[in-house]
Amino acid sequence: MRPFLAFGTCLLVLGCAGNRSAASPLATPPASLYDRLGGLPAITAVVDEFMKNLAADERINAHFAGADLPDLRQKLIDLVCQTAGGPCVYAGRSMKAAHQGMNLKDADFDAVAGDLQAALNKLNVPAREQGELLSAVGSLRPQIVHNGAGAI
Ligand code: HEM
Repeated sequence: MRPFLAFGTCLLVLGCAGNRSAASPLATPPASLYDRLGGLPAITAVVDEFMKNLAADERINAHFAGADLPDLRQKLIDLVCQTAGGPCVYAGRSMKAAHQGMNLKDADFDAVAGDLQAALNKLNVPAREQGELLSAVGSLRPQIVHNGAGAI
């Protein structure tokens, strides 16, 4: 009898707690990736570090020789901020249009993604937030990389 009662009480308590947290106006919504990264100042620092890495990366830096770097910096900040659920609006071209004709390969994409990861490591961004950001960036690969006939 005692174990059954204890079990019943436990279910009741869990049920109430579950309902309360779901319905309460005081319940805290989960923090967005934008907030967990540290908002715009942290995203700006990541993009600046990322661009330093790109400039120093001899595997891919020739691609950026004629680029408008201040404009690219602002677009990267807006894109990362928006993708992470922040208040920015990315107004640049689609990833397909921006990279069309560059004939980029998986190795180019991997180099750039590695430069981003190095920036995240340098700035001590935790593993969970790194994973979320890198997987969002990774999902852009098919729009950026040229993999043969029919692709960009
Ligand atoms: C890893 C994922 C990548 C992201 C998220 C990304 C993001 C962007 C963004 C937001 C722009 C600006 C688009 C616009 O001007 O409207 C851009 C342009 C550009 N990207 Fe990427 N890119 C990626 C990969 C690459 C790779 C792999 C390369 C070459 C190695 C590359 C080279 C360039 C160049 C040269 C420009 C043009 C800059 C200019 O002409 O001002 N990108 N990219």
